[in-house]
Parts: sequence; structure tokens; C-alpha cells
Amino acid sequence: MYNVSLITGDGIGPELSESVVTILKTIHDKLDLKFSIKRLEAGDKALKNTGKALPDETMSAIKNSQVCLKAPVGESAADVIVVLRRALDLYANIRPAKSYPHMPALREDIDMVIVRENTEDLYTGQEFLIDNAAVAMRIISEPASKRIAKYAFETAQNRNLQKKVTCVHKSNVMRVTDGLFSKACAEVAKDYPDVTFEQMYVDACAMNLIRQPELFDVIVTTNLFGDILSDESSQVVGGLGMAPAANIGDDFALFEPVHGAAFDIAGKNIANPSSFILSMRMMLDWLSQKYNDEKCRQVGDTLEKTVYDVVKDGIKTKDIGGDKTTEEFTKEIVSRLV
Ligand code: NAI
Repeated sequence: MYNVSLITGDGIGPELSESVVTILKTIHDKLDLKFSIKRLEAGDKALKNTGKALPDETMSAIKNSQVCLKAPVGESAADVIVVLRRALDLYANIRPAKSYPHMPALREDIDMVIVRENTEDLYTGQEFLIDNAAVAMRIISEPASKRIAKYAFETAQNRNLQKKVTCVHKSNVMRVTDGLFSKACAEVAKDYPDVTFEQMYVDACAMNLIRQPELFDVIVTTNLFGDILSDESSQVVGGLGMAPAANIGDDFALFEPVHGAAFDIAGKNIANPSSFILSMRMMLDWLSQKYNDEKCRQVGDTLEKTVYDVVKDGIKTKDIGGDKTTEEFTKEIVSRLV
């Protein structure tokens, strides 16, 4: 039995959470892989109700669980996810961009992953005012850069596709910070002679993601660049509704969609739950590796194939060109899982 903590979030978060709970319950009942799910509050609603975006009870419940699923939260995101990433040392943010059939996508043959450093850069929140100037501290350390580079090279080896790592930065301008990042990645590359290593400036990368996305296998980059480039890469393959993410540390992991609370469509039963379902698929993969559990891997593969088949059969939510509701899409997945 795996203990899963679930932050239900804001905006479309609760709708996506119900979808994921329905699917996890189906897996529990019919596929003989057991889960206990604890729903938790965090985000704008929690801030309003308790005065804290990340209440202490939520934090301790997460620490007592084996893994966390997090639906998107709203304006308080920095006080929830950025804090969790740092508090739990979830240093690797993994954001795959993979083609699914019949998407409103720029390309239909893409399979890449962005490995984003998750604990440093401008996201440490060290900003202050000096007279009439606003200053932000950008911290890039050698240990964190080497740690994320190692993760990227291992990802390229495990994926066994192009076996290529592209290190993305802007060291021609930010010579000290990105210079260090680039050098650290190049040093780690020497330990992986079977993986091709290349470097690219972030502006060129933003262009190439549109122009030649098939060139990419694994991109490794700093926190802010990774945040922006992963929204772009998700759009190349069909949009945020299909974009999952993982936040991984040495002992714990948290899985969440790339997107935010999407207040514009909240409560309408039209959100695409695939982003969260595919995040759960990444969770199953992580559990399978951590606990050496073959069943988790099999169920994860089945789940992803089911999403693939469902959209291939034209059963889709509005954002990807269909007319199904969140609930109808979820029911279709459930009916095919059993
Ligand atoms: P957003 O990612 O929530 O939405 C951008 C666009 O994509 C919207 O038009 C939305 O309707 C659409 N979209 C997103 N997910 C979708 C899905 N599953 N199905 C169908 N359409 C979907 O970005 P936005 O509007 O900039 O941010 C909204 C709120 O989310 C903000 O308060 C922001 O702070 C928060 N946020 C939270 C994050 C987190 O919890 N990790 C990450 C990013 C933003």
C-alpha cells in the first residue's frame, strides 16, 4: 500500500484531483495496486481559510506520505510549490514534451524532456529595493549545477533515444552565473562519453523548439529558463492540458501538471485532466524505481497507453479540439482500464 498525499489546489485543481482520485481508486480496486490517498489543502483557499498558503498540517502530512500529487494552485503558487521544492530538496524538475495523436500541435513526432534545476536561480525569492531600484539575487552553485547535470545525463541514458543532452544558458551575457552552470555541465559530461553533449543559448533554444524540435532529447537548464521553455515545448506538442511534471529529490518526489489553476475555465467541467493523469503516470514510474515494484511500472505503462488510445480515438476535451467534459474523459479512461 502506497500512502499518497494529494493537494487539491485552486481553480481547476479540485476537478483534476477528482479525476485522478477516480483513476487511482480504479487502479486500487481492479488492478490490484493499493493506494491510500489523503486530500490536503494548500494555495489561495488555504490562505483565506487558515492564513497560510501552505498550512503546517499539510506540510507534516506530506512529510508522512511516500509521495505527493499536487494539483495547481493560484496566486499563492510561490508560497506553496517553490517552498515545497526547497523544503523537500526536490532538485530536479522533469517536464516531458511528448507527441500524442491528433493534437492541435505544431509537430506530431516529438519526444523530449526538460530537466530544470529546481532550487536556485532567481526563484530563491531574494529580492529587495535599494532606493528606486529593485534588485534580485541570482544564485547558481556548482554542487546544484553538477547534481542536475548528472540527473540529465542519466535521464538521457535511461531514455535510450538520441542519447543527447543540450545544456541551455545565456553565458555570453551572464558570464559568472551561467558561465558556472555551463562549465559544471561540461565537466559532468566527461563522465558520460556515450551521451552527446551540446550547449545552446536560451534565445536560440526558444527558436529551435519551434523550428527544429526534433533536434532535442534532454535539455538541462536553470530554474527560470526551464520554467519558460517547458511551457513553450508543451505547446509544440499540443498544449498545457497534456503537460505533466515531476519534482524529484533523493528521497521524495512530488508530481503536478506544468500549468496553473486556469481560473478562466474553473468549475466548468471542461479542463483536460491528462496533465494530472500523466503526472500520476510519472509517479508510478518513480515508485516502481524507488521500491523496485514491477507492478507500478506495468500499471504506469497501461495508464499512458490508455490516454494515448483515448485521444487517438478522438475522445478529447475542448483544449485539444474535442467536446468531452472532464468527467466524460475520465470515465472513458476508467472504462478502458478495467
Ligand atoms: P494557466 O497555466 O493556469 O493557464 C494558461 C491557459 O491554459 C489558460 O487559458 C487555461 O485555461 C489553459 N489551461 C491550463 N491548463 C489547462 C487544462 N488542464 N485544460 C485546459 N486548458 C488548460 O496560467 P495562468 O492563467 O497564467 O495562471 C493561473 C494561476 O495559476 C495564477 O494564479 C498562477 O499563479 C497559478 N500558477 C500555479 C502554478 C502551480 O501551482 N504550480 C504554476 C503556474 C501558474
